[in-house]
Amino acid sequence: MIIAPSILSADFADLKNEVKKVEEGGADWIHVDSMDGHFVPNLTFGSNVVQAIRPHTTLPIDCHLMVENPENYISDFAKAGADYISVHVESTNHLHRTVQLIKDSGVKAGVVLNPATPVSLLEDIISLVDMVLVMTVNPGFGGQSFIPETLNKIRTLDQWKKDKGLDYEIEVDGGVNDETAKECAEAGATVFVAGSYVYNSDNVKKQIDALKEAVSH
Ligand code: DX5
Ligand code: ZN
Repeated sequence: MIIAPSILSADFADLKNEVKKVEEGGADWIHVDSMDGHFVPNLTFGSNVVQAIRPHTTLPIDCHLMVENPENYISDFAKAGADYISVHVESTNHLHRTVQLIKDSGVKAGVVLNPATPVSLLEDIISLVDMVLVMTVNPGFGGQSFIPETLNKIRTLDQWKKDKGLDYEIEVDGGVNDETAKECAEAGATVFVAGSYVYNSDNVKKQIDALKEAVSH
């Protein structure tokens, strides 16, 4: 089980220490949310932030691209030190080519589903991906409420692993706290992104421990 705090809810003026803080608190990955103001109605940052934090953590950096035409940015994120790059199914006409591009860059490839996007769209690419990210809120902002209807998609993806003999991570992102993480774990999730639950606290270790405990049964 992998806990991946999202720096979207961190103090951007102190990003180096915010990353170190969750690493010391027991985080497994660092989740980075890149938004372009087109694919989602919000702006954050690009590969420059990955490059900036890369020297300050040994943890894998998990990049979630909420951008149109993500194929244009893969090489920059790979060079900046990304370990995983995930692209939205809804953001490109050429998902297969984009997944290949990620893999050819030596980075693990993830595909992301918005809450209304069905798992069935992944049928012909699932054997090529290292991870599926199931959005459990509509992407764009931290601090939203978990959408319970997304649990069925996690169950389907978990069943596919068994039926097809595949091995990929199932990541959840949005509204993840100790209660919703437990439900996601029971449904088959293996990677848990949490932004506000971890960072909107003066004790990030306590929050990370609570998530670990919630997903460990
Ligand atoms: C939302 C981002 C998330 C965000 C989650 O579009 O993809 O990674 O940081 O924030 P919380 O955990 O606060 O819902
Ligand atoms: Zn994210």
